[in-house]
Amino acid sequence: MNDIDEIKRQARSKMTKCKACRECNGIVCAGQTPGSGGKGNGSTFIRNVSKLKEVCVNMNVIASNEEVSTESDFFGSKVALPVYVAPIGNIKANYGADMSEYEYTYALVEGCGKETIVFSGDGQNLDVLMEPLKAAHDGWIVPTIKPWQKDEMKKRIEMIKLSGCSVCCSDIDAAGLVSLKTGTPAVEFKDTEGLKEIVEAAQMPVIFKGIMTVDAAKKAMEAGAAGIVVSNHGGRVLQDSLSTIEVLEEIADAVGDHMKVFVDGGFRSGSDVFKALALGADGVLIGRPFSIAAIGYHADGVRTYLHQIQNELKETMMMCGCRSISDIKKACVRVMF
Ligand SMILES: Cc1cc2nc3c(=O)[nH]c(=O)nc-3n(C[C@H](O)[C@H](O)[C@H](O)COP(=O)(O)O)c2cc1C
Repeated sequence: MNDIDEIKRQARSKMTKCKACRECNGIVCAGQTPGSGGKGNGSTFIRNVSKLKEVCVNMNVIASNEEVSTESDFFGSKVALPVYVAPIGNIKANYGADMSEYEYTYALVEGCGKETIVFSGDGQNLDVLMEPLKAAHDGWIVPTIKPWQKDEMKKRIEMIKLSGCSVCCSDIDAAGLVSLKTGTPAVEFKDTEGLKEIVEAAQMPVIFKGIMTVDAAKKAMEAGAAGIVVSNHGGRVLQDSLSTIEVLEEIADAVGDHMKVFVDGGFRSGSDVFKALALGADGVLIGRPFSIAAIGYHADGVRTYLHQIQNELKETMMMCGCRSISDIKKACVRVMF
């Protein structure tokens, strides 16, 4: 299966809560949480997508005929391209798709093969965290734990350690998810000390996801994070926020080489990925389009979408004078906002 339109057509017939729009931009699904939309008026999701259009790539064709390579590194593992699958949990509730967490993650992991890495999600039901881990090959999943209150956090980190994963993540912005503040277990906000406790308990590289300011990035760094994801949870935790592409450059500049900087929110094409790499990201996570591909055509759909992104990234690199990921620099783009 190598036709994205057909993958979307199939996905539409298999889910009730997402329209698999021609452009996944948050307009039709504004306010649909649960569902796949952005919170409130949906403006943060919409802005993530629209602001990316205000970064232009600089064509520069006076270059060698050397092959373009998109190969990159993720904490010591070679990946075919610096694009990762973002964690998306509760696939039934959010997409109205008849797929278990295991089946969903299995489709993603199979589709990505040894080419790239899947971040998996978490929920009040422990199965949302643990089921996907059964799909991991050689630990090639990054489990993403919610910021639970202390004891629950420790318990879940211990379970992750037993699963053989070598890097973990916590979406600390999920402290703002109203649905997880009530019931058991409950999420909470973490200060720098709270982040340190997570890093110490994990004893493996920890990535904090949900960083939108230089201040928060510095606190994550002080806590000993190995990386951050510049993310607003795909616009699902706060309306009227800045987009991730608008804050990426200042955060990446402040962090320098001290931590890995990933970004997500609204990235849809290889050319979008190129823009993030130029503005300082080490890698890009993509959420909703991978979900639609997995629901529509399982591993085949995921593989098709991943290869489309890789081909678009290669083409952009080729036309902008870059032959390897490390060639992608700020001068390769012009920011229009
Ligand atoms: C339906 C849905 C469920 C999500 N569940 C999680 C989750 O369990 N953990 C998490 O860290 N992020 C979660 N996210 C946020 C994504 O990881 C990611 O930050 C966001 O979707 C990126 O934006 P994009 O979908 O526009 O690419 C979820 C997003 C959606 C749309």
